[in-house]
Amino acid sequence: MSAVTTGPDTTTGAWWRSAVIYQVYIRSFADGNGDGIGDIAGIRSRLPYLAGLGIDALWINPWYPSPMADAGYDVSDYRSIAPEFGTLDEAAALVREAHEHGLKVVLDIVPNHTSDRHPWFQEALAAEPGSPERQRYLFRPGRGEGGDLPPNDWRSVFGGPAWTRVTQPGGIPGEWYLHLFAPEQPDVDWTSPDVRADFEKTLRFWFDREVDGFRIDVAHSLVKAPGLPDLGPDVDTSNSMTDRTDHPHWDRDEVHQIFRGWRAIADAYDQPRIFVAEAWVGRPERLALYVRPDELHTAFNFDFLRAPWRAAQLRATIDTTLAAHAEVGAPPTWVLSNHDVARHASRYARPQSERAVHALQDLLDQPADLALGRRRARAATLLMLALPGGAYVYQGEELGLEEVEDLPDELLQDPTWARSEHSDRGRDGCRVPLPWSGKEPPFGFSPEGAAAAPWLPQPAGWRALTAEAQEGDPESTLELYRTALHLRRGLAALGDGPLQWIDSPPDALHFRREPGFACLVNLSAEPLPLPPGADVLMTSEPLDRGGRLPSDAAAWFSTEGS
Ligand code: NOJ
Ligand code: CA
Repeated sequence: MSAVTTGPDTTTGAWWRSAVIYQVYIRSFADGNGDGIGDIAGIRSRLPYLAGLGIDALWINPWYPSPMADAGYDVSDYRSIAPEFGTLDEAAALVREAHEHGLKVVLDIVPNHTSDRHPWFQEALAAEPGSPERQRYLFRPGRGEGGDLPPNDWRSVFGGPAWTRVTQPGGIPGEWYLHLFAPEQPDVDWTSPDVRADFEKTLRFWFDREVDGFRIDVAHSLVKAPGLPDLGPDVDTSNSMTDRTDHPHWDRDEVHQIFRGWRAIADAYDQPRIFVAEAWVGRPERLALYVRPDELHTAFNFDFLRAPWRAAQLRATIDTTLAAHAEVGAPPTWVLSNHDVARHASRYARPQSERAVHALQDLLDQPADLALGRRRARAATLLMLALPGGAYVYQGEELGLEEVEDLPDELLQDPTWARSEHSDRGRDGCRVPLPWSGKEPPFGFSPEGAAAAPWLPQPAGWRALTAEAQEGDPESTLELYRTALHLRRGLAALGDGPLQWIDSPPDALHFRREPGFACLVNLSAEPLPLPPGADVLMTSEPLDRGGRLPSDAAAWFSTEGS
């Protein structure tokens, strides 16, 4: 077997083509000061754990000052740190220490909207209609008599209209402003030179502080069609996974010009800085446009995340993804979970449809077999880490955590819950603070004797899933991740590069990566023999007595001897 001892190439700037990036949802990762909220001190204390896992980089969700109407995606100051998370000095220390551990640091930039508490929005509210202050946002007069109706028919992703009306001094109803998300997240107007200049300043601010890159929040929504035309009837406006290419606010062609400018800024640094786009677009060809050579480096591949646990659908997703990325020479990425979707152990615990799943939370209405979900999740991990390109790990998936589906109503914080009039429980169930150690909550999330409980309650059953409980147990999911990540790092065949399918039964996936590596995933109900001469590197479940790969399991093996 040909193996190298280094990780992805960090000397040519191409580390991101193969990187495994671990998503730190800061509020729920580790609490350093005992107030029940994760923070920078907590991340710093867990850097040895992260480095030991075998990942290449961290992506940290927004840590900027924010009223937290949408868990930090409502930013009131892009060039500072929220007091509950720490200080700029602590942020600098974290970046430095992460680098000392060989880990890159990617931040989250939110360019579609600011907080309604951002000084710019406050200035806009105080200013007159038509003023330069208002032109940084999308203020418009209402329609109908007295301007009582919203300017168009767009809907907020979180439910309800995408417009809110402001009140002028003296209590007089005034203009409306656009918010594709919560009313506390007014959309900025990207035709404004102030907006462009200020986001470029923010990029440089963090790049100058040695940050290695940015994940770009809703990258596909920045540009709106001139005149803000109605969507018209029969359009599900909150769903951006549309095939429409003329949508008035999702995935418009003009958005690419903004990112070309951002790429030039990143490339001006000696160690080029990188971008990953969060772009929920309808077709892989559209996604590939974001990762053309002069644009963003990578983009999350949500098609993989939305694919059901079925061989044909997974294979089709893999093929279309690889083909679309090959067209533009960009490495694909693979992601199974994040802070916006039900955890994949819980998704795979449900009956699997034949179609891509759009409303992932809806799956939770179906009966669950969590042991099966966890087993499939382990197999999915080996599949994901064997595919060409980079991969994302969402904190806690390495512990096999499930979606917490029974959070008490009164504790739910996601704006989706209120804006959907309590019909959609939202995303809190995948944001529950991590269990690190001990037998009861807070499971080491907060220090011993902490004054406050974790901001969301952890299930008692997580005592079996703490990092401490899994450490050293070869059957644990934590050790599965560690083994796979370290192997992946040492295998020249993995990461960026081509893939060749090998003929297999219809309910299996079997592919080769050169030199000398193959992955077999058994999605059928029956055990599957391994190919003759397979030299097994690892499996997600033990092989059966006949040396066969059981149902819902995956194997990595060397093909050098065959
Ligand atoms: C996508 C983020 O991942 C999500 O958490 C957030 O609510 C929206 N963008 C709005 O910023
Ligand atoms: Ca804290």
